[in-house]
Amino acid sequence: MIITIDGPASAGKGTLASTLAEIYHLAYFDTGMVYRAVGLDLRLKNQDINDEDLAEAAARALTFAKMTELSKHQEFRSSEGGVAASVVSAQPRVRAALLKMQQDFALNPTFADGTPAKGAIYDGRDTGTVVCPQADIKFFITASSEVRAKRRFKELQEKGLDTPYEKVLADIVARDERDSQRSTAPLKAAPDAYIIDTSDMNIGEVVAKAREIIDNHKKSA
Ligand code: DC
Repeated sequence: MIITIDGPASAGKGTLASTLAEIYHLAYFDTGMVYRAVGLDLRLKNQDINDEDLAEAAARALTFAKMTELSKHQEFRSSEGGVAASVVSAQPRVRAALLKMQQDFALNPTFADGTPAKGAIYDGRDTGTVVCPQADIKFFITASSEVRAKRRFKELQEKGLDTPYEKVLADIVARDERDSQRSTAPLKAAPDAYIIDTSDMNIGEVVAKAREIIDNHKKSA
């Protein structure tokens, strides 16, 4: 079974995806990692993230092993890491170079320890529209930019990072704009996606809603 979960930054996709992966024993692919890895790779080499030739070369050279290694770097999950990922992800040749790696995971899904899984949960921006249009169930998870900024602000504070709320909100708005305005695979819900607005929901309620949809799907399959 392949499930895709797309939506804007900080809508709660990651928590939902990892929780569902555990409940249904599915492998989990956080596809934002491929763009974060390319962005960080360029930054660590002091290369310009806006240079599509360099970014394409970094994307072509990316492997799962390299991505896992880069993910241990403290900047990988930082706001700057998110901005760099968003910039490289707007480059069509970078997206093309990273597509096969993402699609191959569905053919051979594996857990983090390398053991095979019976299916996968993807999370990202275009996993239901471009990466896995054949997915069995597609979700589009969203929330207002203010709610997402508040969640992100709290997360950063918990990590001891003191970014002002106004900056967090401005980054989210700018990232949404870049992610939804880009010409290749812009952020949008697949026509057959279940849309869940989490603005007034807690994570328990979101998981319960998603489980209801998945369990109904399994019964009717
Ligand atoms: O989910 P995230 O914050 O780790 O994603 C980082 C950036 O990567 C995001 O701004 C847009 C891009 N991205 C994308 O374009 N397509 C995906 N499937 C996943 C992420």
